[in-house]
Amino acid sequence: MTEIVDGEALAAEIREGVADAVEQFEGEGVTPGLATVLMEADPASETYVEMKQRDCEEVGIDGIHVEVDPDAPAEELHETIRELNEGTAANGILVQMPVPDHVDAQAVQAAVDPAKDVDGFHPENVGRLMSGEPRFRPCTPHGVQRLLADAGVETEGADVVVVGRSNIVGRPLANLLSRRADDGNATVTLCHSRTADLAAHTRRADVVVAAAGVPEMIDAEMVTPDTTVIDVGINRVERDGESTLVGDADFDDLEGYVDAITPVPGGVGPMTRAMLLYNTVKATREQTGVDVSLP
Ligand SMILES: NC(=O)c1ccc[n+]([C@@H]2O[C@H](COP(=O)([O-])OP(=O)(O)OC[C@H]3O[C@@H](n4cnc5c(N)ncnc54)[C@H](OP(=O)(O)O)[C@@H]3O)[C@@H](O)[C@H]2O)c1
Repeated sequence: MTEIVDGEALAAEIREGVADAVEQFEGEGVTPGLATVLMEADPASETYVEMKQRDCEEVGIDGIHVEVDPDAPAEELHETIRELNEGTAANGILVQMPVPDHVDAQAVQAAVDPAKDVDGFHPENVGRLMSGEPRFRPCTPHGVQRLLADAGVETEGADVVVVGRSNIVGRPLANLLSRRADDGNATVTLCHSRTADLAAHTRRADVVVAAAGVPEMIDAEMVTPDTTVIDVGINRVERDGESTLVGDADFDDLEGYVDAITPVPGGVGPMTRAMLLYNTVKATREQTGVDVSLP
């Protein structure tokens, strides 16, 4: 039987733990704050930011939302970031990507105070992660690690194939899973669009993480009954005349065949959101020195 790894339930547990941590902060007169900054006028980005603000409200984190006119010069966004860096209200800062074309996204990521960089994309934090000492784990890779642990998958010595080498998912995940740590120590193969014979890699994997953005590309022919499939993909497709969300794994084909699988929606997505809250309380702990326990 295939275990369906429930990201909603695990994310709810983590949010509870974050709410506990927030209460402990409150006892010391500290309210953790997360600033979301939106510059691009894009409906998907607007929805993501709204969800993040709602999550903050649920756990008692002070949500601060700042919008910058999409036509404003890049300097205006940088000024906003400077103010948030210097102020005490925001312990974490998240600039919603993408930013408009006339704004250099890398310069924006580098402008956020690395101590408040709860996305984990500042070059200093990327360097720390690469060297095996992460400060903030990027939210999606961290969520994947927690899901694997929750599913009882031992990463030590496991063959993990990550499909997709983006800077926000595949690369940091490959780093985290291969580092010398209890939730690492895996042998990781990082695949991408130029990989020759992808199925030859996925078929020998204990764990396949699908993060390519290609609807339902991983099917039963590409894995074995012992495989755990973690599906990061979120793809909107038309099915029977209706718009629906599917992952990068063919859930219907894999359910009943593989050892375990995350659903879409309800797998990695809610975990990504929960780990942002986690990073915000972690940032608050480091900035204030108030030693709360993290979930
Ligand atoms: N659940 C969540 O919270 C969450 C968070 C972030 C992203 N996502 C979703 O995860 C997916 C990946 O996101 P991303 O931002 O990492 O995407 P991305 O930046 O577009 O990167 C996709 C990666 O997949 C590789 N790829 C594309 N087609 C492939 C193929 N046919 N075979 C093998 N590799 C292939 C690409 O290879 P090249 O490098 O060679 O181009 C690239 O490395 C998307 O569906 C996105 O919506 C979900």
